[in-house]
Amino acid sequence: MSRIPDSFIDALLARTDIVEVIDSRVKLRRAGREYTACCPFHDERSASFTVSPTKQFYHCFGCGAHGTAIKFVMEYDRLEFVDAVEELAKRVGMEVPHDERAQRGPQDDFAPLYAATRTASDWFRQQLASAAAAKVYLQKRGVDAATQAKFELGYAPGGWDALLSALGKDEASRRVLDKVGLSSKNDAGKVYDKFRERLMFPIHDRRGRVIAFGGRVMGADDGPKYLNSPETPLFRKGRELYGLWQVKQAHARIPRLIVVEGYMDVVALFQYGVHEAVATLGTATTSDHAELLFRNASDVYFCFDGDRAGRAAAWKALEAALPRMRDGRQAFFLFLPDGEDPDSLIRKEGAEGFDVRLKSAMPLSSFFFSELSRDIQLDALDGRARLAERARPLLQTVPDGAFRDLIWLRLNELTGLQQSAPREPRNDARHAAVRGSHSTRRSMVRIAIELLMQRPALAQRITPPYVFEHLDQPGVALLIALLNHCQPRPELSTGALLEAWRDSPDLAALTKLATSESLTPEEGLEADFDGALRGLELAALEQRERALQARVREVGLAGLSHDEKEELRLLPQLKQVRKTRA
Ligand code: UTP
Ligand code: MN
Repeated sequence: MSRIPDSFIDALLARTDIVEVIDSRVKLRRAGREYTACCPFHDERSASFTVSPTKQFYHCFGCGAHGTAIKFVMEYDRLEFVDAVEELAKRVGMEVPHDERAQRGPQDDFAPLYAATRTASDWFRQQLASAAAAKVYLQKRGVDAATQAKFELGYAPGGWDALLSALGKDEASRRVLDKVGLSSKNDAGKVYDKFRERLMFPIHDRRGRVIAFGGRVMGADDGPKYLNSPETPLFRKGRELYGLWQVKQAHARIPRLIVVEGYMDVVALFQYGVHEAVATLGTATTSDHAELLFRNASDVYFCFDGDRAGRAAAWKALEAALPRMRDGRQAFFLFLPDGEDPDSLIRKEGAEGFDVRLKSAMPLSSFFFSELSRDIQLDALDGRARLAERARPLLQTVPDGAFRDLIWLRLNELTGLQQSAPREPRNDARHAAVRGSHSTRRSMVRIAIELLMQRPALAQRITPPYVFEHLDQPGVALLIALLNHCQPRPELSTGALLEAWRDSPDLAALTKLATSESLTPEEGLEADFDGALRGLELAALEQRERALQARVREVGLAGLSHDEKEELRLLPQLKQVRKTRA
């Protein structure tokens, strides 16, 4: 993925008004300094969704959803980060720059590639119209005309270069066809069509652009049953899901997603009224897939053959899903009877029959424990110990939250062993200050960070170097990083500050501080911030004094350098200044 420079994100958020962005999608009502609405991310009758124009941030007190304008567009429009940024940039007339280190080189434009896949897809469709055998094949498989059109099915004719001679008229267009994987070259250097005499399934990205193809043989031909486009600049199969575009088109809000194995399964389910199916592209489910799935629907059903291969594939999907099981997300596993696939079942049982099967699907936790204890005797102590041993490393990948707590609880029930869910490795001192759970009194560092999150412009009240730079207290490094980020950006909003920390493990804690009802009223923010900084400086000076005194005890006053002696002499005064101001 191309990386967008942080400076651009800052500028974009500065030009974007979150109130306008949200209001154009969810009607907002003014309430004092903020705006409110019923939360678009969960069902509610009274408004607990608030948007702050000063913080440029939204927050729902009901479901906890929160973030910047970018996050809102990602969640509401169901876009990836880069696409959400593009969307917002378009609104304010900005051009998104892409980092030169990224795959997408600066002068290397993708537009001709997208144009080529689109033209090829249309051309395959035209060919289908005049290909009797292909039409008969589709009829035999019971794919009706509307569904063929919906999925833009096409046909790649036989011969060696039908596509090449139609669309590769000059050197440049042949180069593009090669780049998008539509032509191949043999050992003798002869270039020919990659797909020949195949039924064509175009693969769309999340924005409906054609990025690749799958092609199915129609007879008992030689060669593989399905041929897929190779990985190209447009297409990485571990990140795409066949049918997702059509599913998105069919719903304002996708109720659930069903992951099946084949192109034909997606197509048949759609034709029979199940408009929620997607397929991986001849690969195992990756964790990118899992995230993409959950981003689009909180309930995901994995549907596999009941045989050994199907179970193995389901287990892969489970492993990919575990680290993505944040609160509110649910995964289920459905295994089909021998010899059936969703395509054959839906034709026999219809959408209602299929729905009944989905309702009986196994929750992730059941599948997890039944697979792990497959060859284990749970009535024996060592069997239970073995189960615990197998489960533990996998469960450690589950993010903090209710699901994590419950699945560990279930492990304890099954094994009779008491092991608590170890928290994510967040217990280092750096995070303790931010979380503030260890001490009842809020530390100075935490107060300073909290105030800064409420109003990033407070950073202008101090300049580096900071007296407390070497203060040995949890959270100091984070505070300094925040200050350094805010100082050159006097206009930075809370939302934009959080956006700069979006990939950091501190993000959750910072978000909490940004949204917490501050104990300090607006008018008091500056005074409290100054007070916290004075307190930190004082603590740092005391720490330095203790260190110097320890040196004196060790080497005597005469052993100190000139500078150290001078420092020791000045420290009481420096402290005094802060005490009277603090
Ligand atoms: P299946 O063999 O289950 O095919 O492969 P299917 O979807 O049921 O197809 P029909 O009903 O016979 O037409 C499932 C998926 O595995 C990938 C394809 O993505 C296919 O949809 N596959 C299969 C390949 O990539 N290559 C192959 O040769 C076979
Ligand atoms: Mn099939």
